[in-house]
Amino acid sequence: MKKEFMLSEIKDYIEEEMSTQDIYKVVSPFLFDLKINATPMDDDFRITPGLSREKMELSDEEKEKILSFFGSAVVPGQLQKIIENYITLKTTKDWDDPMVLEKIRKAIVAQKNAYWKSGKSRIISYEKGYSILAYLAYQFPVYFVQFEHILHSLASDGMLKKRMKILDIGTGPGTVPLAITDFYKRLDNAEAAIHSVELYDENIEAYDAIVPEYAKKVSGLTVEKPVKANLVDLKPEDIPDNIDLMIFSNVLNEIRELTIDQKAELVKKLSSKLAVDGNIILIEPADRANSTEFRKLTLALKLQGLGIYSPCSFIWCQGCKPDECWSFEQKEDINPTRLMKKLADCEEAFRYLNTDIKYSYAIMRKDNLSKVSYKVPLKSKFARLADVNKHVGKRINVVCSLMSGDLGDSKYSVYKICDGTTRKQVYTLLPSHHEVPENELIKTAGYGTVLELFNVLVKYNEDKDAYNLLLSRNSTVAKVE
Ligand SMILES: C[S@@+](CC[C@H](N)C(=O)[O-])C[C@H]1O[C@@H](n2cnc3c(N)ncnc32)[C@H](O)[C@@H]1O
Repeated sequence: MKKEFMLSEIKDYIEEEMSTQDIYKVVSPFLFDLKINATPMDDDFRITPGLSREKMELSDEEKEKILSFFGSAVVPGQLQKIIENYITLKTTKDWDDPMVLEKIRKAIVAQKNAYWKSGKSRIISYEKGYSILAYLAYQFPVYFVQFEHILHSLASDGMLKKRMKILDIGTGPGTVPLAITDFYKRLDNAEAAIHSVELYDENIEAYDAIVPEYAKKVSGLTVEKPVKANLVDLKPEDIPDNIDLMIFSNVLNEIRELTIDQKAELVKKLSSKLAVDGNIILIEPADRANSTEFRKLTLALKLQGLGIYSPCSFIWCQGCKPDECWSFEQKEDINPTRLMKKLADCEEAFRYLNTDIKYSYAIMRKDNLSKVSYKVPLKSKFARLADVNKHVGKRINVVCSLMSGDLGDSKYSVYKICDGTTRKQVYTLLPSHHEVPENELIKTAGYGTVLELFNVLVKYNEDKDAYNLLLSRNSTVAKVE
């Protein structure tokens, strides 16, 4: 009956004695789905109506703020300060004390060595305080900006809602919740409840010290305490209902005890808690080993019935079965944080600077919605990449998605391409001296864009067991609308 009220007013309607905090504990799990917000105010909560879960559309002003952030992306100063304070708190020394910096350097080197190992010797642990500080110093800044790119792309596609329930699994020190918080700081009219799961106490401790502090003044955002759990044992009943975004960022590659099919089964099982129009965001590092394993996982998930929204598009209405698929998105480098600069202020600076953004990702859904709705028309004159071996030495036309940034050098631009039928890796190459306005689109088109390539020469690369489609000044690259 009232548009707004204080939660303490409810006491008048309850027979037994209850404190406002006790009432809050009872009602809080239901508030999000009831479209009700509870904003803490002194010892009470202001209860107001929430937004509905309709599509979020970015205003021009919001778009401008987001683009200006990406123009020179860096972890915001306020968040850097919170992280520096956490280092001071944990080490009881100044965050930039030379001894602290040296210990963080050692932990970064140890962590990188563990990441690069493979098989049974790949043991990655977050049990020691310094491993979390190393993560915050070295991995976090890139992953933080990277997730903002993913949010931006989802928002631009109209895939985010004004009110969202979000679950981040394997949250670490809260990379994804922090990126969401930062993104929401640029939005005027959006609400989200962020839930998370994490295995290690040290990570949860860092999360508790950093995330609520950074999120506290962002209206419409509720950040729940991380649930301590092993993802391997996680059951649908352990996670909230009706999740709009479920995120696995750089975590599944760390689960050694499960095979690809078992990981797919686990994600599929948890997807039962996804809203009908919800999205699962899977992200893994872009290195060859992790990235190719990850594509196998997304294909296993597809076989289990989840649809790939992006980046893959099955434009020939056919599923792919590649021997290997190494594909990743690339974005502008970030600026180093103050901490990263201090760490790099030594002889082997390159060891401590981590600023390039490359990641493999997939957005999966329970429906069959795909970012690219284009399908190759019947009777069109394009060759399928599945048959590329039959055209070696000939010039052909293909329609395909751009599946990498430039992998080449100053003489040759090299891009991975795919049309959803590929068996071997296929690349398109543009020698710099053949660059003309008709083919230069290959250099600027975004990851996942569907392109028509006309008049390309097919070559087989024996060393790489891959096919190259050579663009020349007589080739044309056009975007499929
Ligand atoms: C590389 S970090 C990624 C952290 C964060 N998601 C990000 O993208 O920066 C991997 C995280 O997954 C967590 N993790 C690893 N194995 C896990 C498991 N079995 N259950 C839950 N969390 C796990 C680790 O503790 C760590 O926080």
